[in-house]
Amino acid sequence: MSNFLSSSIGKKLLMSITGLFLVTFLFIHLSLNALLLVNDGGEMFNAAAHFMATNPIIKIMEPILALGFIIHIFYASLLTLQNQKARGKDRYASGNSTPDVSWASKNMYILGATILAFLVVHIAQFWVKFKITKELTPVHIDIAGVETEVENAYALVNQTFGMLWVVIVYVLGSIGLAWHLSHGFWSGLQTIGFSNTIWRTRWSVIGTIIAWIFGLGFSLIAILQYLFFQS
Ligand code: HEM
Repeated sequence: MSNFLSSSIGKKLLMSITGLFLVTFLFIHLSLNALLLVNDGGEMFNAAAHFMATNPIIKIMEPILALGFIIHIFYASLLTLQNQKARGKDRYASGNSTPDVSWASKNMYILGATILAFLVVHIAQFWVKFKITKELTPVHIDIAGVETEVENAYALVNQTFGMLWVVIVYVLGSIGLAWHLSHGFWSGLQTIGFSNTIWRTRWSVIGTIIAWIFGLGFSLIAILQYLFFQS
């Protein structure tokens, strides 16, 4: 087993599995964050955030998600270093002029690093303030006819998106994410073995569409919050 994980294909497989797992997280994350665009003063977003914060399954998933990110980043770094070493001086010759290979596929590590830089800002702005420094104030909302005290997650997110530089960082991070996934999604499926010659093109199109739904979706939430949801 340890031999397999130290082989190139073992590392690629782990990266693919963790990458596709992170895509399912992003799908849920985008769906819940879309509630930020409901014009109800943040009630639905706060109800969803309360559900996520109190649901035991989500609590179990949080460390698994963190582990997914760590494994994905660790093996990406290892494989990139190995590939660079293997190519030696020739690595510059293969550079960006290689035909028929997308720009994203040649720059996956740089795009991944851009997403990581975005995530550092993002986690500091939200997760740390939600979970560590606990900067949320209580608010009462109606959940299924019952008045319930929850934390006002909406107020913090809404206030954060009131700053133009934050919106710019989110748009750049989301575009980096879309680009990364436009190659990563079908490449991951191919490594796992889901892709033959016919499905390679189909998954590539499906992957590009999913990637840009994420990219545009997260960007639009930040932009629309800045433009239309500030009081
Ligand atoms: C409009 C864009 C986004 C909004 C409004 C948003 C909102 C949030 C909020 C409020 C939290 C804290 C949740 C909690 O701790 O209960 C959070 C956590 C997190 N976000 Fe985002 N997010 C956005 C985009 C992204 C993107 C693009 C990524 C990945 C590339 C991402 C990855 C994460 C991760 C890994 C966490 C920590 C895990 C968690 O607590 O669920 N987010 N986000």
